[in-house]
Amino acid sequence: MRLSNIVGTCASVSVVVGCLAARAAAYFVITEPTRESQWTNGVANPVTWRKGVLDGIAGFDVEMARLSQDGLTFVARNVPSKSASLNILLQDVPPGDDYFLIFINSTHGVMHATSPRFAVLPASSPAKASQPTAIPDAPTVTVSGAPNPTRPFATTFAAAENGVLASLGSAGQAWGLASVTAGCLAGALWTLW
Ligand SMILES: *[C@@H]1O[C@H](CO)[C@@H](O)[C@H](O)[C@H]1NC(C)=O
Repeated sequence: MRLSNIVGTCASVSVVVGCLAARAAAYFVITEPTRESQWTNGVANPVTWRKGVLDGIAGFDVEMARLSQDGLTFVARNVPSKSASLNILLQDVPPGDDYFLIFINSTHGVMHATSPRFAVLPASSPAKASQPTAIPDAPTVTVSGAPNPTRPFATTFAAAENGVLASLGSAGQAWGLASVTAGCLAGALWTLW
């Protein structure tokens, strides 16, 4: 094997290892709602997530949107990522099967995760037997009406403390964030369409 080949191989191995490390640190998925979820108006519906502990993301903002229509509902700002769940109580939200959640830092627009699309049913619809119910210990945020980006966040949590990876420096964070953004966009396209 020629030296240039070895150097090339090493370079690509370290890129792959770097990518895996960045992805592990950047791991952030919404585990509920799923593609099967049917949320009901008048009910607190559970949202859960899982994320890497070393990604330096101390908090995030939750938004809800529809695929078929413009508009955005600002659900909750500064959700501390050390908690793992939230309930969203829906009131007069138009029924549809194309809702999805976005976890984002709306200060600089970096997207952390998107949920699969899920359905919203009218109040008093019989929920599917398999549908998870509200999480007892989690905070509940109330969302009313159709997506409307001129309304402020329905709830703002107390500011989260600084991320644990602040000492990594901005280069490490930028790299991590860039890969999160790319991964999320790919994930969003994969799950939504
Ligand atoms: C969004 O990012 C800014 C700048 O990095 C940070 O100060 C802020 O705390 C972040 N927002 C949340 C909700 O964590």
